[in-house]
Amino acid sequence: MKILSIETSCDETSLSLFTATETASGVDFDVDSTITQSQIDIHQEFGGVFPALAKREHQKNLVPILLKILNQEAAENPEITSNSEIETILERESELLESFIKYVMPIQNPGINAICVTSGPGLEPALWVGISFAKALGLLWNIPVVPVNHMEGHILSVLVPETNPEQDNSFSVQAELFEFPALALLISGGHTEIVLVKEIGNYEIVGKTRDDAVGEAFDKVARILGLPYPGGPEISKIALLANKDTSTDIVLPRPMLHTKDYDFSFSGLKTATLYLTNDIKAKNNGVIPEHIKALIAYEFQEAAAEVIVKKTLSAINDFGVQTLIVGGGVSANKRIKELLKQKASEIIPAENVYFPSRELTGDNALMIGLAGYFKIKISPDAVYDDIRANGNLTF
Ligand code: KG4
Ligand code: ZN
Repeated sequence: MKILSIETSCDETSLSLFTATETASGVDFDVDSTITQSQIDIHQEFGGVFPALAKREHQKNLVPILLKILNQEAAENPEITSNSEIETILERESELLESFIKYVMPIQNPGINAICVTSGPGLEPALWVGISFAKALGLLWNIPVVPVNHMEGHILSVLVPETNPEQDNSFSVQAELFEFPALALLISGGHTEIVLVKEIGNYEIVGKTRDDAVGEAFDKVARILGLPYPGGPEISKIALLANKDTSTDIVLPRPMLHTKDYDFSFSGLKTATLYLTNDIKAKNNGVIPEHIKALIAYEFQEAAAEVIVKKTLSAINDFGVQTLIVGGGVSANKRIKELLKQKASEIIPAENVYFPSRELTGDNALMIGLAGYFKIKISPDAVYDDIRANGNLTF
């Protein structure tokens, strides 16, 4: 089965093309390529993702990425000037419609059997661009379009081995994917969730943030410290410079550390960081000395890591699972990864702790294609004829 997948839920425009072949022991995935175009530079000046801009950029990026992934030169066919059904599908994406008619309409289907597209959660205007593009392609090539939950993509991203990052590669997965039930910790810019994975396609959220997502807190704290967006990598970079031996009163709270549930709260931690930073600024003529900035970043990261690790370990114990899957942009955080790996492997087998490869921690279409592939496998006859963007899609 040859699958084209599309991801546009936030600020990455990503397409992936792979062929999945069933074998006696599982499935072989042969990835043609995954191309991800980040919009970070464009959103940076707003200090976060600006939905209308994201929508515009996705419209601009999709056709060039598709041509590249299919190894096609942009070639117009002057005989093709319009198509009323495609016009209806892409009526709210006028810029995309124009390039679709010009450059995509002349392309024959290169043997693709299905298109998988993120339908949520995410920014609805951004999601719609990917969905409308997928529907237009599905109509053009007369193949099914399968909606995918972005968070399921993050869970399944761990199936791609570390040694085989995004580019031209192949990898196999065993029929027994994980030891079920498994626990998934999903930490990203929009989500902080602990999910019980009973099997692929069967998920139950057992804990989540009551306010900000952890990635969002990293981004906001970075802004407080005058660091650029996205803040996660910036915070962890300067946290390494912290000299923890200097006696300091830089202490931040660990919200909900001792509550009996698996929920989180990061907004109070962010506010505490703001007050602390303002105090320091007031005493230093409005500036934060660099060594103190590093200490705040360090302490914030420790506080976030500590609650994440504690809640995840409690859930592993309470649900009696033997497998931990970690996914989402914040899973790239070295400190959180190190602590989770170390502590989790004290209670479950170390080889049952899964993280995505560095390239797949952030948003990408390969994980969406994988989730779509398993969805098709589980329900081969399902028909999805009214796919809509759902910004708050949940399990
Ligand atoms: O999964 P993702 O790419 O997009 C969403 O679906 O949200 O996650 C992006 C988030 C951003 O908030 C970013 O600051 C955070 O992941 N992030 C990190 C790190 N790298 C990315 N947070 C902490 N440490 C990192 N190294
Ligand atoms: Zn994501």
